[in-house]
Amino acid sequence: MTAGTRHGQHMARIIDIRADRQAALEAACAALSDGFAIAMPTETVYGLAADATNPAAITRIYETKGRPRFNPLICHMADLEMAEQHAEFDPVSRALAEAFWPGPLTLVLPLRPASPIHALATAGLDSVGVRVPKGFAGTLIGAFGRPLAAPSANTSGAISATSAAHVEADLGARIPLILDAGPSAVGVESTIVKAEDGRLRLLRPGGLAAREIERVAGQPLLRAKKASAAIEAPGMLASHYAPGASVRLNATKVEPGEALIAFGGAAVEGAREARIALDLSPRGDLAEAAANLFDYMKRADASGVSSIAFSPIPDDGLGEAINDRLQRAAAPRD
Ligand code: TXA
Ligand code: MG
Repeated sequence: MTAGTRHGQHMARIIDIRADRQAALEAACAALSDGFAIAMPTETVYGLAADATNPAAITRIYETKGRPRFNPLICHMADLEMAEQHAEFDPVSRALAEAFWPGPLTLVLPLRPASPIHALATAGLDSVGVRVPKGFAGTLIGAFGRPLAAPSANTSGAISATSAAHVEADLGARIPLILDAGPSAVGVESTIVKAEDGRLRLLRPGGLAAREIERVAGQPLLRAKKASAAIEAPGMLASHYAPGASVRLNATKVEPGEALIAFGGAAVEGAREARIALDLSPRGDLAEAAANLFDYMKRADASGVSSIAFSPIPDDGLGEAINDRLQRAAAPRD
């Protein structure tokens, strides 16, 4: 595979799937067969994808991201039929899969003992996080024929990538191929749920609003107490999605020289003296805000400020996922 060179560094080849789907499919299948990790667009965020049955390939994911190996990876499937080969579905989980796949929902399910998914992908757990992504990723997995392990395509702890340019800036020198499908439609990672004796636990709020899941399941989601979230979904707690600047939440005024990220057209005191002022959704649409979140965080950070102030964001619908990410971005760093 040929890749470009920039500033003396080897850079990833970028293929726009909208320009040449076939070339993208072929290059991606070849790289995955050779055990590489590549950047794959999904409707939530860009993923760093590798063959979930190949230990050397999975090792590349952890090394490329600098990700702790106790943090299991989501295994992406082409469809429910493929997922059934690797995981055991209880009735509630199957109903959710039928309602929301392909889409931004990850189900944590018992791993079938005969599944060829490697223990490095599941971090040795007897469960597996599975999801069927929307769009080109589903087609790619179908063509490749095996599940793809894929965390978000960013350095561990940094802000997730929602465009090919984000991936290139972060991981471009470390991976051979980036598939470009334009900006991610949803903009935050999938919602993760786990069924336990017929009850559903929310492990991570995400791009599918909890109330949508509750409507189909006919039951409220059990939410982990904040303090026990680390045990529910390993590697989920504390500092994450962290920009270089510090993050200040629920700001009602902005200090001179700070960056401001507002919501819903809110008038914020001092906004005119902010270094940069952005609004996640002037019309107050939480789906639009989610889609803009990581890109705006990166833009605010790139303006060189030492602090980013965020306006309050409602906690309903996709606001739950947005506030979850902001709290992690604001958490003390180690
Ligand atoms: O939208 C998404 O989910 C994106 C795109 C690329 O699909 N992927 C993603 O993966 O966000 P990642 O690796 O950044 O997040 C996976 C989360 C982690 O918090 C991990 O702890 C949890 O899923 N997880 C994976 N397998 C699990 C399991 N068996 N039990 C509990 N949590 C699990
Ligand atoms: Mg991530």
